[in-house]
Amino acid sequence: MTVDARRVAVLVSGRGSNLKALIDRASGYEIALAASNKPQAQALDVARAAGLPTWTLDSRGVDRELFEDMLTRSLEDHRVGTIALAGYMRLLSPDFIAQWRGRIVNIHPSLLPKYRGLKTHERALAAGEGATGCTVHVVTEELDSGKILAQTTVAIEPGDDIAALSERVLMAEHALYPATLAEFVER
Ligand code: GRF
Repeated sequence: MTVDARRVAVLVSGRGSNLKALIDRASGYEIALAASNKPQAQALDVARAAGLPTWTLDSRGVDRELFEDMLTRSLEDHRVGTIALAGYMRLLSPDFIAQWRGRIVNIHPSLLPKYRGLKTHERALAAGEGATGCTVHVVTEELDSGKILAQTTVAIEPGDDIAALSERVLMAEHALYPATLAEFVER
């Protein structure tokens, strides 16, 4: 079966604002599936409202291998060629990443390699940074460490708190992710 890189699955666990941006600004790619490890994720409502196919399985208590086997089946059913992580909070196994090597991307709310992992805005503020931002990168076995595809810098203003800063970075994410994904699927 031929796999089309432009058929994208978006993996989500939460709110889904990046999924919404990827849907609204889709050009050069199409969202073939929204998949979640959290059946109650708001992001799934975003997908359903857009009329997109969804797949979900509660990952709590499910063996990782079984979970990923079921996910893989759904990705294959929907002829997915590229995976975009958008607030996906479950670690992917090295086997899964190897199977999709070079075809999974993620958006991270910092200027990588700074602030890998969680609480990025809190840490950037605590460090007194003058700027932070967001990064789209290729996913590898090492957390938030794969090849950087694109970044946007966002200034930290005096008086910024976590909420204000995350809101501004999120706006930048919503512009950066669709544009970068469109380029990535053409590579
Ligand atoms: C975003 O800040 C993204 O950078 C990070 O998780 C958050 C997801 O937000 N990986 P949303 O679910 O897309 O609104």
